[in-house]
Amino acid sequence: MRSLATFVLLAGIASTAAAQSDPAATYTAEARAAAGKFMAQLGGELKKEISSGGPASAISVCKGLAPQIATSLSNQHGWKVSRVSLKPRNPVLGPADAWEQQALLEFDRRAAAGDKPEMLERAEIVEEPQGRYFRYVKALPVQPLCLNCHGAAGDVAPGVKERLSAEYPNDLATGYANGQIRGAISIKRPL
Ligand code: HEC
Repeated sequence: MRSLATFVLLAGIASTAAAQSDPAATYTAEARAAAGKFMAQLGGELKKEISSGGPASAISVCKGLAPQIATSLSNQHGWKVSRVSLKPRNPVLGPADAWEQQALLEFDRRAAAGDKPEMLERAEIVEEPQGRYFRYVKALPVQPLCLNCHGAAGDVAPGVKERLSAEYPNDLATGYANGQIRGAISIKRPL
């Protein structure tokens, strides 16, 4: 994989003027908007379901709605939109590929060095054997809400634990603390 351009950006740096003249900045702005939509829609539904039905019942939101939003955004844009992690819960949809792993490791390093996890993102144009792509990842930091299903043993209620181990026997996605990086929204756009 050869990088044609590497530009690691923090949210808000790309100005409108830059977006107009630089296609990579436009791609970044568009990817950022789609990732924002994904997080807002999923976060809203998760909060609603946790407060009405409790965290065990909200598992179905993560299991059903998250891939549905990802597919709908993918179809709408003609991109591949997904959620990935270095420690996936879903062994089919969740694992990060090599480029995503590298970005997630960098996010962990930068968060440990004091960067705000909610600001971490990476955008790059890459050449892969299948073609040229714009790739983007946006870090998903663990918030108190996430601990219901991704936290340490004491944070996850017994009913939730039971359902998770039944549905995800190879679950790697527990033991997180607030502020750590759970994974990322990843966007792969053919150019
Ligand atoms: C109600 C339980 C629940 C809560 C709360 C929850 N998740 Fe999850 N999460 C899941 C389940 C279940 C999956 C597996 C979904 C699937 O099958 O694709 C998952 C998957 C993920 C994935 C995809 C990668 C993987 O591990 O397979 C990410 C990223 C993720 N969650 C981040 C978060 C973040 C960040 C929060 C808090 C904002 C959060 N989750 C809150 C249950 C939860």
